[in-house]
Amino acid sequence: MKTRITELLGIQHPIIQGGMHYVGFAELAAAVSNAGALGIITGLTQRTPDLLAAEIARCRTLTDKPFGVNLTFLPTVNAPDYPGYIRAIIEGGVKIVETAGNNPAPWMPLMKEHGIKVIHKCTSVRHALKAERIGCDAVSVDGFECGGHPGEDDVPNFILLPRAAEELTIPFVASGGMADGRSLVAALALGAEGINMGTRFIATREAPVHENVKRAIVAASELDTRLVMRPLRNTERVLKNAAVERLLEKERELGANLRFEDIITEVAGVYPRIMREGDMDAGAFSCGMVAGLIHDIPSVQELIERIMAEAHRLIHERLAALAA
Ligand SMILES: Cc1cc2nc3c(=O)[nH]c(=O)nc-3n(C[C@H](O)[C@H](O)[C@H](O)COP(=O)(O)O)c2cc1C
Repeated sequence: MKTRITELLGIQHPIIQGGMHYVGFAELAAAVSNAGALGIITGLTQRTPDLLAAEIARCRTLTDKPFGVNLTFLPTVNAPDYPGYIRAIIEGGVKIVETAGNNPAPWMPLMKEHGIKVIHKCTSVRHALKAERIGCDAVSVDGFECGGHPGEDDVPNFILLPRAAEELTIPFVASGGMADGRSLVAALALGAEGINMGTRFIATREAPVHENVKRAIVAASELDTRLVMRPLRNTERVLKNAAVERLLEKERELGANLRFEDIITEVAGVYPRIMREGDMDAGAFSCGMVAGLIHDIPSVQELIERIMAEAHRLIHERLAALAA
């Protein structure tokens, strides 16, 4: 399938695997790229720029297809070494960067100078327009359903995507709640040029995470996510577990007085324990409502082939018949 996104990124299928902390390692990124979509290594999961350089090099040994790196600009006091990470990306010859979080404007000239295509992930039309103005090549529009940080506007994709289509000139992909061929066709109908998936890619054979995480996603329904850190205006959609219940109890008790320090044991540094060790109650971890649509653990190749086959069937059979 050819869309403005496949053309822009030089990929076969209009599907992107979004950056995911402690999930987006070389194995997953390479598997997604080898299947004809776009795999993305999560930059900040690598603790230093040198480690990111090594991860990029490792990914090159696993695929000769294009892949990207996610750079999440966090609202932290002690900022990571972003110039170092960008140097690792440039020197590693990576030509696609998915930015997220804060405005990537300060880093745009350097990335553009090196011919890097920038896809900024954002949760509102105004941020998407800002990304367009500062020279991003595409945006990933993340609806309220999404795993991770949905922002504070709570606009679901049935509204957000057509609104983005009304305003944007650059191409965009639909992110949040995307799982299968139905998602892809719906996203295309709403004006997107493809889809970005997070949670769905965790429940794949190649995702380098503990089996407990994959099983928990398959077992979860669309009712099993919770929004945490809302009082801090840093909302995150996570899978419910004992730590999340504890965290929400603290939020209820402390109300507007809640500070980050109050919930640090539930959110800080918990990803390795969950993703590597499979300790499913270690803390809060991102997960989308789309868990309700995830019922198996296929290989990445099977997943992508299935999405594309279902999309073609829907377009050529169901929709064509309805329009006849
Ligand atoms: C476990 C997990 C970790 C994530 N970590 C990041 C991250 O570090 N940076 C980022 O930009 N997005 C992150 N995301 C968001 C995804 O890239 C993607 O935008 C989101 O999962 C899309 O929604 P979906 O889960 O409904 O597909 C994460 C998502 C999940 C599920």
